Amino acid sequence: MKLWSGRFQKETDELVNDFNQSISFDHRLYKQDIQGSKAHADMLASCGIISQEDNAAIQAGLSGILEDVEAGKVEFTTDNEDIHMNVETILTARIGDAGKRLHTARSRNDQVAVDFRMYVRQAITDLIPEILNLQQALVEQAEQHQETVMPGYTHLQRAQPITFAHHLMAYANMLCRDVTRLEDCLERMNECPLGSGALAGTTYPINRHMTASALGFAKGPMMNSLDGVSDRDYALEVMSDLSILMMHLSRFSEEVIAWCSWEFKFIELDDAYSTGSSIMPQKKNPDVAELVRGKTGRVYGDLMSLLTTMKGLPLAYNKDMQEDKEPVFDALDTVGMCLPVFTGMISTMKVLPDNMASAANKGFINATDCADYLTKKGMPFRDAYTVTGALVYHCTQTGKTLEQLTLDELKEISPLFGEDVFDALNMLNCAFQRNSFGGPAKAETTRQIEYIKSFIAAHSAQ
Ligand code: ARG
Repeated sequence: MKLWSGRFQKETDELVNDFNQSISFDHRLYKQDIQGSKAHADMLASCGIISQEDNAAIQAGLSGILEDVEAGKVEFTTDNEDIHMNVETILTARIGDAGKRLHTARSRNDQVAVDFRMYVRQAITDLIPEILNLQQALVEQAEQHQETVMPGYTHLQRAQPITFAHHLMAYANMLCRDVTRLEDCLERMNECPLGSGALAGTTYPINRHMTASALGFAKGPMMNSLDGVSDRDYALEVMSDLSILMMHLSRFSEEVIAWCSWEFKFIELDDAYSTGSSIMPQKKNPDVAELVRGKTGRVYGDLMSLLTTMKGLPLAYNKDMQEDKEPVFDALDTVGMCLPVFTGMISTMKVLPDNMASAANKGFINATDCADYLTKKGMPFRDAYTVTGALVYHCTQTGKTLEQLTLDELKEISPLFGEDVFDALNMLNCAFQRNSFGGPAKAETTRQIEYIKSFIAAHSAQ
């Protein structure tokens, strides 16, 4: 017998039963469902809506169910549709009438709203340390490569000299925003829908502030009961945040994939984080990075799926909204898998500074420095730019780099060149002379590394 079978004369068609059920995926909410029910029952008793004896039986019964679920002793059934009805049915089977009183002054719309919110809140809280771990791995690699020169790119063309530490710290800074975005979301969503009823509140003298605080919702109960049961913004917001995080990881993945190709060979991935080919014996493939890049599309899809589900839905609850859980679970699971494996890949990768340096030495990435040298000797920058362009052309014709030109060759183009130009064109010097705030100079990358360390400390174990 279904909990709602009262007004029905017929059994649900078996196909409909399977189609309608959500227990096959919302069983994940068992802990939150039990926690929510316990808080609700405590509140009902404290407001004199149910007796203390009934509440004691409900509390003991729910604790027993929780233990049994965790010990794998409970089998949920599709006959009971979802996690909320499964738990209630089991409770009533175990404790009788007291179990039937639990649903006084609440609805399943209430339950799903509060359970899912608590689940997402916990999942984000668990995910943040994984981002911090990745930042820590970046800090540790960066600390060893503050003097490792590499070409910085624009348009994927070698542009100006930077250091590997500088490049890694760019990602570490993006990850700071990913962390704070999730923290903002946590803050905003931390208000409690429970007590909204089906949509219109309840005639019972409930205390929503009490349940909100028992369930850790710092901002108290949600202001409007229709909004309380209709809102899935927080789920969309977290998937937007996860999509941006994955976008960052996909850019990083793309670079890792490029860097370990023979065309670049800036890094070598650890054997434990690479895979082979079934036919080509020489292959060592960056599958981890490729999968992270690939799974980014999947997380975007999860976001699009729920945005589309929610589009145009009238207030308040609609069954469409049962489709909210799978994409959110999938996005959280996917990101939860990507982060630790990505961190492992980064912390074990071997950096090949010589290859980075020889790439930096080709492509005239010190041309800006050459123009700056002339500018500092008094030539207007636009003229210095043109003179340097002519030098680059000369080099392309003679197969030389700028720093391989003789002082005589340089002086022929401008008498402002002196012996000190060779220091000015040295790649490491070029990177280190970029000492503007946020640049690749050693003191600057040290500042960036220290900032990330303090960020990690400030955002750990909050
Ligand atoms: N299983 C449903 C869901 O996930 C729970 C809420 C059902 N409410 C209802 N009125 N049918 O959305």
